[in-house]
Amino acid sequence: MGSLCKTTNSVLYLSTCLFLAEISLSLSAKVYVVYMGSRGSDDPDEILRQNHQMLTSIHGGSAEQAKASHVYSYSHGFRGFAAKLTEDQASEMAEMPGVVSVFPNSRRRLHTTHSWDFMGLMGEETMEIQGYSTKNQEFGLNPQVLVMLTCLRCQLVGRGTANQGKHSMLQLATGFNLYNRNLPTFFKVLMFDYLDSQPQLKLSLYRKVIGARYYMSGYEAEEDQVKVSFKSSRDSSGHGSHTASTAAGRYMTNMNYKGLAAGGARGGAPMARIAVYKTCWDSGCYDVDLLAAFDDAIRDGVHILSLSLGPDSPQGDYFNDAISVGSFHAASHGIVVVASVGNEAIQGSATNLAPWMITVAASSTDRDFTSEVILGNGANFTGESLSLLQMTASTRIISAAEAYAGYFTPYQSSYCLESSLNRTKAKGKVLVCRHAGSSTESKLVKSEVVKEAGGVGMILVDETDKAVAIPFVIPAAIVGKRMGKRILSYINHTRKPTSRIFSAKTILGSEPAPRVAAFSSKGPNALTPEILKPDITAPGLNILAAWSPANGKMQSNILSGTSMACPHVTGIVALIKAVHPSWSPSSIKSAIMTTATVMDKRQKPITVDPFGRRANAFDYGSGFVDPTRVLDPGLIYDAQPADYKAFLCSIGYNEKSLHLITGDNSTCDQMFATASALNYPSITVPNLKDRFSVTRTVTNVGKPRSIYRAVVSAPVGIIVTIVPRRLFFNGYGEKINFTVNFKVNSPSEGYLFGYLSWRNRKSWVTTPLVVRVSHSKFGLVT
Ligand SMILES: *[C@@H]1O[C@H](CO)[C@@H](O)[C@H](O)[C@H]1NC(C)=O
Ligand SMILES: *[C@@H]1O[C@H](CO)[C@@H](O)[C@H](O)[C@H]1NC(C)=O
Ligand SMILES: *[C@@H]1O[C@H](CO)[C@@H](O)[C@H](O)[C@H]1NC(C)=O
Ligand SMILES: *[C@@H]1O[C@H](CO)[C@@H](O)[C@H](O)[C@H]1NC(C)=O
Ligand SMILES: *[C@@H]1O[C@H](CO)[C@@H](O)[C@H](O)[C@H]1NC(C)=O
Repeated sequence: MGSLCKTTNSVLYLSTCLFLAEISLSLSAKVYVVYMGSRGSDDPDEILRQNHQMLTSIHGGSAEQAKASHVYSYSHGFRGFAAKLTEDQASEMAEMPGVVSVFPNSRRRLHTTHSWDFMGLMGEETMEIQGYSTKNQEFGLNPQVLVMLTCLRCQLVGRGTANQGKHSMLQLATGFNLYNRNLPTFFKVLMFDYLDSQPQLKLSLYRKVIGARYYMSGYEAEEDQVKVSFKSSRDSSGHGSHTASTAAGRYMTNMNYKGLAAGGARGGAPMARIAVYKTCWDSGCYDVDLLAAFDDAIRDGVHILSLSLGPDSPQGDYFNDAISVGSFHAASHGIVVVASVGNEAIQGSATNLAPWMITVAASSTDRDFTSEVILGNGANFTGESLSLLQMTASTRIISAAEAYAGYFTPYQSSYCLESSLNRTKAKGKVLVCRHAGSSTESKLVKSEVVKEAGGVGMILVDETDKAVAIPFVIPAAIVGKRMGKRILSYINHTRKPTSRIFSAKTILGSEPAPRVAAFSSKGPNALTPEILKPDITAPGLNILAAWSPANGKMQSNILSGTSMACPHVTGIVALIKAVHPSWSPSSIKSAIMTTATVMDKRQKPITVDPFGRRANAFDYGSGFVDPTRVLDPGLIYDAQPADYKAFLCSIGYNEKSLHLITGDNSTCDQMFATASALNYPSITVPNLKDRFSVTRTVTNVGKPRSIYRAVVSAPVGIIVTIVPRRLFFNGYGEKINFTVNFKVNSPSEGYLFGYLSWRNRKSWVTTPLVVRVSHSKFGLVT
């Protein structure tokens, strides 16, 4: 072991050492991130030596123990390390010079709803692969057209190429058959196709995935039993393939899920390239692994980072949260970071709250997947479903509560828990089951339970009304609470109630669309209420995209979650970067936010599932992303790294920690009066006492000579004035300041919403205004 651990400049290598040395560590030790801000020294070996020195002093001078406790060193995008420490050692470490924060290795989750449901498909599903030519379809495409654009300008994440010596992007291991040319073309083209990265095939003009790394030291250190499908960067769950193909998949003709949603499909930026940093394993994604991935991605020179994952709410403080830390340094290096807001549905549950990220909420598209249901009394309705099975005749329908078995109460059976149903009573019938939406419940499993009990159909009443289509194993449909009541009432008041469920169909042009998905996490920002989150919404309900054949032998799948919304925005960011390569991350974010729409396709205000409440900025941020307008926003709200420093000072970071975080001599002289002063493309005043003014700066990126006038929709009871009311620009890149004055007219409770729009004939540059009147001043009670 001694010799194994001598050269310690490779991450992979270190993890081996850790594994061998684990036994000698104290049992109470846990993995912590020791975050030390921006990099000071250039030499990773020197940084590693210093990290070991710090660990040695914590371990009472034992170099052996120091080495054994070390998990990762971060030295490219930022400084710090991950190590196994006891609580006391962690506190001691936090006091050491140079340390910004020490925080435990928390687990993050992928932001897919009902991941249980799609995971449940594993092994069961034997979807025929049809409609794809097994010939190497990619060689039929025109290479010149394809490549050149890609390589010059619009790579997605990563401009490194495979096998750059020491920084080789490839970490292959089990699970890959590199020469398996019988994979469906779809996968070759769309996702995780490491064939392309092979040195033998270097000349391939179709490299889509240009690199892949994986990180599991943090996972290995935390989990008792490390059981993974592939100890490699291969996508074992399908989530990575799905999100990556949404962002940057090439055009595929005839893409469908079991015939549903058939048609052509492509990702947002089909020419972009992908570098994969796999940090998530069966049980989740650990902080120390995420930070290692950020560190490498910054070194690799990626342009955009897409994170369909996040902390559970409430999230930690910015410098005690791996994603905030990693994205801060990524943004400081000019990388655009796009992240999902989370799937916790309720007010204030939004995560990924830092102002240097683009945080994405989920909404519907105008495509639904529904099954029609007809009751014996002639009433008909539809419910969400992806089941292609259908009943050939009307059959008796009962409440699952009536079919309770053995020791189960009718109440328990009404949820169709495993083995809670009596076969004799359920056989040949349609069962009405309930779903409370807890994380351990699976809608898919309920259909299996009903099938096992001999049921021929299921109507699932979703008490949380989070309509998400599921590939049930019997004819089935999901309905909301209200419809559920009507069906149960029909059953109660009818002597022989019957029903028939038809197979799922794709409904195009469903209305209203888009709607904010019920599961999408909502603002306000629990950490810094002055910064509105989410920033934007994009499609995240029932999204069809590529799938890893490693899970369920399918080449595409339909999933829901803010995880699915995030890569839609990532693809759009890639397009903006291709056209405007010099724009800063915050300019790109501004272009996406100020051009969004708050109207649905019928030109009515966007609503929120399930009850059609009118949506507000806490649901969708600036609104629904409009890819047709993002390239030409007219004006942008820009912010530089220095502005984020002033922001950090305004929320209480002192100069000492600021120096460490930024690695320079920044001071808090330029601090903002409040965090509302950050030049953000939305304006939130969470504590308005009588009067407050906010200044913003807009940069002209439209016609050199242009005039804008302010159009304001003031929040109810607030007087909003804009100074000046007109902006006269004389050149491209010119900046003009303006002030938004808020005055309380008639105080009311809670958050109030309005907007400011700078308009001329060509451009509308719209910014949400969010205000809450201070209670203390006006004697309001909560
Ligand atoms: C469902 O009901 C509508 C009227 O409410 C009727 O037009 C339609 O034909 C019905 N569908 C079926 C399949 O009976
Ligand atoms: C199922 O229902 C039948 C008929 O009502 C009854 O005879 C039987 O005991 C029940 N079985 C269980 C396990 O509850
Ligand atoms: C149906 O009847 C059961 C008892 O027989 C009752 O508990 C339930 O509330 C009724 N449901 C409706 C919707 O009327
Ligand atoms: C910070 O200031 C000190 C003394 O004023 C100077 O020696 C040092 O080079 C500065 N560091 C940076 C990164 O500018
Ligand atoms: C605009 O505001 C910024 C910061 O508030 C200030 O530094 C700058 O001088 C102002 N520019 C003009 C033209 O007033």
